[in-house]
Amino acid sequence: MKFLEIDKYHYVTAKDQGYLRELAKFVSKSEFLPKFHIYPKSGLMNDPNGLSYYNGAYHVFYQWFPFDATHGMKHWGHMKSQDLLHWQDCGLALIPDQEYEKNGCYSGGAIEKDGLLYLFYTANYKTSAGKIPKQALAIMNQAGQIEKYAQNPILDGAPKGYSGELRDPFVFERDGAYYMLLGGSADETGTAKSFGQRGALLLYQSSNLIDWAYKGEVELPIETGYMLECPSLIEVDGKEVLFLSPMGYQPQKNRYQNRFASIYLLGKLDVLNLRFDVEQCDELDAGFDYYAPQAFYAKDNVPLSFAWFGCGEPLYESDKEKWKHGLTMPHELSLRSERLHRFPSKEILAAFSMLECNQKLVAPKMSFYHFSTEVSREQKNATIVFGNPGNTWQLDIDTESGEVILDRSNLATPIDVEYGEDRRTILTAKTAIIQVDVFVDNSFIEIFLNQGEKVFSFRSFNLAKDHMIVSESVTNCKIGYYNR
Ligand code: FRU
Repeated sequence: MKFLEIDKYHYVTAKDQGYLRELAKFVSKSEFLPKFHIYPKSGLMNDPNGLSYYNGAYHVFYQWFPFDATHGMKHWGHMKSQDLLHWQDCGLALIPDQEYEKNGCYSGGAIEKDGLLYLFYTANYKTSAGKIPKQALAIMNQAGQIEKYAQNPILDGAPKGYSGELRDPFVFERDGAYYMLLGGSADETGTAKSFGQRGALLLYQSSNLIDWAYKGEVELPIETGYMLECPSLIEVDGKEVLFLSPMGYQPQKNRYQNRFASIYLLGKLDVLNLRFDVEQCDELDAGFDYYAPQAFYAKDNVPLSFAWFGCGEPLYESDKEKWKHGLTMPHELSLRSERLHRFPSKEILAAFSMLECNQKLVAPKMSFYHFSTEVSREQKNATIVFGNPGNTWQLDIDTESGEVILDRSNLATPIDVEYGEDRRTILTAKTAIIQVDVFVDNSFIEIFLNQGEKVFSFRSFNLAKDHMIVSESVTNCKIGYYNR
């Protein structure tokens, strides 16, 4: 097909529909598409937005530039599901067609009130002197119709001492009041054109979700980089968990190797005294492609999260197919030994019928599977290799130290080598057995160690043909193919 050159800040109009349909048809032929991960039908997908269980269905909104596999004008796309496996594509939810959002509808969260779903987002507004942060509202009714609030923006500008990079409203209710968290950047000099010197989390309060009062900056006893993006708060097993996506972390041996990091803080947000009391804090994911997670309460109040299955701007071999990135699987959140664990939701787990298998497995057409195995701490090391001949990635497990290395250096086409070709993590739980669960959804791979104590999310472009798994020093291997 003939591709059009689309302006970076072009928003979708009726005239584009024919081209976007053609583009989606072209993308649907890609050999790297997943089956149980959400991905864009064309163009680039980034953060999950407005995650909610509303009116008997799951709603996932997402950052979307539909025209190309690059970052451009951000729209909100919308998917809906009853079971977290089959997604109905509801198309565009927010098109940045108003003056106050002239540079895109950026990320945000959702909350239900009086049977309506309130969608909060950042109206991206650039000027030659920097950004003017504006937060906006749209309301979805039970018929799925979405209308922007006529008096948008509901918040205009940044409080004194903060730069124009202030965004990603996350709204929650506590003791009869509504609160909004915004991620930002403190600018003590008052001169920063974009980011200031220090990442900051700002709190606002409202009684009606429309009128908001600034309460102040939330004190965080952690390093905050130069900017905090995408705050999200949820209760997990009686404790509060705050997700943050800081920019500007320095890499450490086993952490923060990607361009940007995602972390969780476990403890309690004190909205009166404006501080988060931290009991535990760690990086959320040890892989290459994970950022901007958002948490929400699923059916029966189960805490779940999705994240952008991507980070930074790596080049993938599928870029030429005009689609890029996707979201992680839905992860159920739990606390074990005072640490946050993330593991695929029950609905995902039930979509694979697990059967015992050999340690060496060569099977065609096996791009959609869950492979699980165990490594006993009594033996020394274990290695598991996945992929096609000449195009593999592998896991190396050191049973003594608990260090696990994900090695992507044997891919036929290296990815984003500037940020390194391996990722390392250390298991803190001293279990007798290390449990390994690998979900391969074509080019989207998620590895869970000890049921989500540590997770590696990453992309790898292996073909179904000649796909193999070769494992040494492991026991109890099982495989299940995606069966929905
Ligand atoms: C995080 C982020 C958000 C912003 C959005 C724009 O990936 O930079 O802070 O709202 O992406 O797409």
